[in-house]
Parts: sequence; C-alpha cells; structure tokens
Amino acid sequence: MIKDRGWQEIVEFGTLGDIPVRLLAETGSTNQVAIDLAKDDSPTYTVVVAEEQTEGRGRLGKKWQSPAGTGLYFSIILRPNLAPEDLPKITLMAGLAVCRAIERVTSLSLLIKWPNDILLGGRKLGGILAETADSPTQRIAVVLGVGLNVNSPLTAFSAELHDKATSLLIHTDKEYCRSELLAAIVDEVKRQVSRFERDGFAFILDEWRKRDATLGQELAWVTHSGEVVRGVSLGPDDTGQLLIKDRLGRIHEVLSGDVNLVGVNCDNS
Ligand code: BTN
Repeated sequence: MIKDRGWQEIVEFGTLGDIPVRLLAETGSTNQVAIDLAKDDSPTYTVVVAEEQTEGRGRLGKKWQSPAGTGLYFSIILRPNLAPEDLPKITLMAGLAVCRAIERVTSLSLLIKWPNDILLGGRKLGGILAETADSPTQRIAVVLGVGLNVNSPLTAFSAELHDKATSLLIHTDKEYCRSELLAAIVDEVKRQVSRFERDGFAFILDEWRKRDATLGQELAWVTHSGEVVRGVSLGPDDTGQLLIKDRLGRIHEVLSGDVNLVGVNCDNS
C-alpha cells in the first residue's frame, strides 16, 4: 500500500522534473486556470493541481464532483505539434496514457468508455476533459484536464453517483499516493504526445481498442439535438469517431455527445 505522502514532495523534491507545478488549495476549475496560463504563454507541460474544485467541469457541460483532499484534479498545458484535425484525438490518447500510468502504479486493469471515461470494475474512476486555448505567440494549446477518484470514500460523492462512481480506495480498500499518480500520469502523457507526433495515431488507437469497455455492446447515443440512437458499438474508426450500428444496419458516426450502455449509466460527471 502506498500512503498519500502529501503534495509538498512534488514541489520540493521535483518529482515532475523541470515541469512547473501550480498547487492550489481550492479553485473553480484547474482547466480554467490552465487555459488562462496557456493564453499568457506559460510553458508547455505546466501542471495545475487543486486539492478541491468548486466548479469542476465535465464533458457536455456537466459538473465534475471534486471532494476536497481525496481526489486528483489537475490540468496540463500541451502544445502538440499536430495538424488541427488531429487535436480531437488527444482525448483518446490521454485516456490511454492515464490507464497506463495508473496500471503501472497500482497493478489494476482499467477500461475506457468512449471517449474519455476511465472505468474500474464497471464504474467510473476518472474522466478527461480536453479544451483548447489560443495564445498570440505560440501554437494552439490543448489543456488536458484529468479528474481521478483516488482516496475518496463513497460518502464523498452525492447519492446519485453511489451506483456509478468508484475510487481506488473503494475498489481496493487501500489508499494511494496522489503525487505519485500525478507524476506517473504526466510522464505517460508526455510519452504518448511524443509518440503521436512521431508515429501518428494508429498505434495509440490499436492500444486504446484493447481497453474498449463497450465494443459489441448495445449503446444509446444521445445526439446534440436530443435524439436517442440505439445500436451496437463497433468501436472507434481510424479517426477516433465512435461507430454505432443500429437495427436497420445503418452506421452512425459519433463525434461527440453522451453515449451509455443500454440499462447502465456509469457516468459520474
Ligand atoms: C468527464 O468525465 O466528463 C471529464 C471530467 C474532467 C474533470 C477534470 S478535474 C480537473 C480538470 N478541471 C476541470 O474543471 N475538469 C477537469
């Protein structure tokens, strides 16, 4: 068992090497702080981490519950050397990086529900929110926000999340060191960005597909206009868009929107 040794360590002993880390006791959203820093030309890979978020953001305008002191809530400023059409693939890349890092630290096995839910034992352990920020002098930044339920007891979440969310503590009955997880995830994100820039998306997608939580299962996709499309998941295509085949054999390409297993909702944002 790895006890949480506290945050001072990463600042004082430089576990994140030369990467600047902003450690905040409380903030609205680390993504918003990182977007502001990116617009002000803060260095690539700057990390913003908060003990608590009061306005934690999830995908599709949802809130991310960020109870104090037990979870990992952070954002990293990326400036990947990629074509604009490749930027949406960063979410899938990040999911893979987060899984690899957590697995390295904990020896657990994780799955991903397209596009960004990190699942442990069929429940949501974490999520990823990628947002972009322009700066006058640098490449467009992608702010990668990661929320991870680490040492959170079930009582830290509101009642509607009790059958959807999990944490490393809930699943394993052990506490984990958040700073060690943070360092491992940042390191893995950097590796995957370099790999993407060097080798393209195909290898990343191959690995992502091995962790696909919903391949072959029946999904309900709620489109932006509120229409519900039901069908079987064919997994992501080569560009990362999810493909769903409905009963009439029509293939739907999902670029965004809410996707849930029929009869199950493991979304905790
Ligand atoms: C989702 O699953 O909908 C995405 C959740 C992302 C939450 C993280 S917590 C750190 C960062 N700051 C935010 O406001 N959101 C992301």
